[in-house]
Amino acid sequence: MITGGTGKTHQAYGAVRGLVQAGVRLRWQSITAADLYAAQRPRQGHDSEREMRDLSRCPLLMIDDLGAAKTSEWTEELTYRLINHRYEQLLPTLFTTNIPIREIRTILGDRIASRLAEMTERAVLTGPDRRRHTA
Ligand SMILES: Nc1ncnc2c1ncn2[C@@H]1O[C@H](COP(=O)(O)OP(=O)(O)OP(=O)(O)O)[C@@H](O)[C@H]1O
Ligand SMILES: [Mg+2]
Repeated sequence: MITGGTGKTHQAYGAVRGLVQAGVRLRWQSITAADLYAAQRPRQGHDSEREMRDLSRCPLLMIDDLGAAKTSEWTEELTYRLINHRYEQLLPTLFTTNIPIREIRTILGDRIASRLAEMTERAVLTGPDRRRHTA
């Protein structure tokens, strides 16, 4: 997706709501990739490993705006660990991203891209930036 505001986050929450309304009772959590990296920065009195473990094991997880934050080897490693855990444990995960499909491999790296390709079904949202239309 080149443009933001096409409704990805809205649709992802909609998918969670659909499950809950259908009577699926599971604990779920949503976090943007940027907030994940911010929360994982080492700081005193904060157990970042524990938080990583909680997110890794959450029965349903939404990772919003993957690839939107500035990337580094450190963010790539964190993203890899989280996604790999969910991949290995077959845990349902919703992702949203603005990265065009053909750039996923370049931007997120081979290890993450190949896992995403296997563990996700893609829904491409096109259309205008809805925020501009409502502003
Ligand atoms: N189907 C819809 N009906 C009505 N409003 C919508 C719908 N989808 C999205 N919106 C509204 O449009 C705006 C943008 O939607 P959203 O935040 O989901 O876009 P996004 O694709 O996640 O954007 P970004 O790439 O910037 O994260 C929000 O204010 C949202 O409430
Ligand atoms: Mg969004």
